[in-house]
Order: sequence, then structure tokens, then C-alpha cells
Amino acid sequence: MGRISLNNPVLVAAGTFGFGEEYSTLIDLNKLGGIMTKTITLEPKKGNPPPRLAETPAGLLNAIGLENPGIDVFLKEKISFLSQFKTALIVNVAGESEEDYLSLAERLNEKERIDALEINISCPNVKEKGLVFGTDPGRTFSLVKKLREVTDIPLIIKLTPSVTDISQIAQAAQEAGAEALSLINTITGMSIDTETRRPKLGNITGGLSGPAIRPIAVAMVRDTFQKVGLPIIGMGGITCSEDALEFILAGASAVAVGTANFIDPTTTLKIIEGIKQYMKRKKLENFSDLVGWLEDGS
Ligand SMILES: Cc1cc2nc3c(=O)[nH]c(=O)nc-3n(C[C@H](O)[C@H](O)[C@H](O)COP(=O)(O)O)c2cc1C
Repeated sequence: MGRISLNNPVLVAAGTFGFGEEYSTLIDLNKLGGIMTKTITLEPKKGNPPPRLAETPAGLLNAIGLENPGIDVFLKEKISFLSQFKTALIVNVAGESEEDYLSLAERLNEKERIDALEINISCPNVKEKGLVFGTDPGRTFSLVKKLREVTDIPLIIKLTPSVTDISQIAQAAQEAGAEALSLINTITGMSIDTETRRPKLGNITGGLSGPAIRPIAVAMVRDTFQKVGLPIIGMGGITCSEDALEFILAGASAVAVGTANFIDPTTTLKIIEGIKQYMKRKKLENFSDLVGWLEDGS
């Protein structure tokens, strides 16, 4: 994917895989195309009040609120563990101001092992600041351009579906010098316990993920693929190789698995194998031929 090299096109999505420690006892992390870390911020964050998760039909609402140990602990304790695996290491960061993002990028410059930064401009679960950059093409452009000036690490911009036209934000990221895009982050939702008349989440609203959002994500990947030239990491409700192939045919060069990791931690490995089997069955040799190969009847 441009300057970002992946062993295979199947990654794990930010925030659903922590920093890999827990999952390393369940699957061989060397087999993943890449690990996108939980979002890191400059200061440690406690996150939102509980409850933070609520199940919905075919989906999951979460309002974690970017709980994380902060950049110092990440650099001191977490990165060395992740660095031992032969898989792309993509560090996801978020800030409340341009300065925050720039400081994070500068701190991460020290580490050669990092393959890319995933710039989270799309979190719906932090009060006010979460979507400030990701819903405004001008602010996306300004942030990415400044990041480009302070770091050579490839930049993947993570987009929110909570916009009228996602391709406009994608275009702004491309013009400012991003290497790739990842889409989609969760969609704002709410669930109410009718007995207590209380919201099911402590934060009242949360981000919806899982199969419920997959068709929305596939449509956004297709739209972005048609209008913007950057490689796309597609995500949103992927549970099996068929789901992953939908994203790839729509135009994703790679995919990331999020919520499905909670149900079956081996989902990614099954998807890697499933894509290989599909290519064999369809007598295809190059994965890249599949990207965007939609027979749309036009
Ligand atoms: C519990 C949970 C925590 C998440 N935390 C983050 C995060 O820290 N940073 C981020 O960019 N995305 C985060 N996400 C969004 C996912 O990376 C992904 O974009 C989204 O869930 C759609 O994929 P999925 O349906 O396969 O889960 C989180 C999602 C879930 C379910």
C-alpha cells in the first residue's frame, strides 16, 4: 500500500485489540497483516463512565471514550512488546488540538519500528473535540499538512461516517499528503432501557460497530475509491472472508477486523485463509487485481 508494506491485507482495527498483549496468548500475531493500536493521547485518559458497552441487533454500541495510558507509558512499556512481531505496526493517535497531534507525531518519530500513524479524527465518544477535525475538509487538510511537515512516517487518516460526503474529507487528506485512508469509524447511536428509562450507556450515546454498519461502510469505501486515489483500509462489521471481499471488491486495498475479534479472536486468521481460497477458486494470481473489481453492470 504505497510506502506501507503489509504481509497480507488483513489487519486488526484500533481499540478492539488493545496493544496486542491479551490476544498474543490466543493467536500468532506474526500472521496478521498489521496491528492498529488503541488510540493514544498525550496524557493518560480514564475514559467515560460505565456502562461502556451495549449490544444491539447485529451490532455493538461502545462509549469507551479513548481510555488509554498516554504516550509516555506507550513508549516506555507498550511499544517494545508490539515491536517483536513481524507485522505492520500502526500507531493510532488522537488529540484535542492540532498541537496535540503534532506533539504525538514528534514523539513517535523517535521509534523506527513504526510503519504508519493512524490519525484518528473520527471518535464520536469524546465530548465536543472528537469529530472537530474529521467533519471539516478545511481542518482535515490543515492538520494533515502540518503533520506531514513534522514526520516522515506514513499517515493513514481514519474517517468518520458522520458526514454528508465522506469523499470530500478523503480528498482533503489526499491533497495534504496522506498515504492512505481508513474507513469507517463507528456511527453515533443510542439505546434505552425502557424499564429504568435510562440510557444503556453511561455516556448516553456511543459508537455503533459490527455487522449492522457493514453496508454503510461498503458504500462509503466504494464512493471514496471512485473519487480519491489513495489506498483504503476498509472496516465496519467484517466477520468472515466474504465480508472482507465485499470491501476489497468495493475498492479497499486492505481490511481491518474490529468487533468480530471479541466474538472469535481467530477471525483474522480465518479471513486470511478464506481470501487465499477465494483467489484459488477464481483462478486469480494477484491480490491487487481484486481491489475495486466490481462488476457494476456499467
Ligand atoms: C470497543 C471499541 C473500541 C474502539 N476504540 C477505537 C479507538 O480507540 N480508536 C479508533 O480509531 N477506533 C476505535 N474503534 C473503532 C474501530 O476501530 C472500527 O473503526 C469500528 O469499530 C468499525 O469496525 P468493526 O465493525 O469491525 O468493529 C473502537 C471500536 C470498538 C467496538
